[in-house]
Amino acid sequence: MAEKSVVILISGRGSNMQALLDARLPARVAAVISNNPQARGLGVAKARGIATAVVDHRAFPDRAAFDAALAQEIDRHRPDLVALAGFMRILTEAFIERYRGRLMNIHPSLLPAFTGLDTHRRALAAGVRIHGCTVHFVTPAVDSGPIIVQAAVAVLPGDTEEQLAARVLAQEHRIYPQAVRWFIEGKLKLEDGRARIDGECRFPEAVVSPLARR
Ligand code: GRF
Repeated sequence: MAEKSVVILISGRGSNMQALLDARLPARVAAVISNNPQARGLGVAKARGIATAVVDHRAFPDRAAFDAALAQEIDRHRPDLVALAGFMRILTEAFIERYRGRLMNIHPSLLPAFTGLDTHRRALAAGVRIHGCTVHFVTPAVDSGPIIVQAAVAVLPGDTEEQLAARVLAQEHRIYPQAVRWFIEGKLKLEDGRARIDGECRFPEAVVSPLARR
């Protein structure tokens, strides 16, 4: 069977990208693409010998033109999966449709709570006791696609935004590689608007769901 391949899109630090690279997935990371030439993650990818590219959104008159150029860059690699990892651009419906069922994102909240930005600050302001992160398939509504896997962490008394973000990020780095692995292994599919998983994961010290299916 041909080796599966993944393209990762980033905008900044790239720690989730790094977690995907570190996970030794049974797939080739064909390229890391950023809309931001300054993205720190580009250097990390390059240092590992991974092809990188920049499609700078500021060079395009509108979202449609940017997305078309981005899709062209992605399609050169013919990836089985496109993984958004801290990619901070809203994508057009045409782009999302093009990659339906093979476009994934990680969001730093327990969706559907706290869609959008500043999730940790807003979680603290809301006084929630449990917070976390979500990997989901991307559909046109922002941060609302079918949920694949979530991990929850406690919000502790006196938590700062940074402390809470770090606790959540540690879980992001576990569940994103897990979701990508399921997908690559053919155990995860988007079916009738839901993520169907036929796999297992075991992360003892956080509440992670699903743990097992079938
Ligand atoms: C992560 O918290 C991710 O969930 C969100 O943006 C952040 C990106 O961090 N979408 P990194 O670039 O992966 O370090």
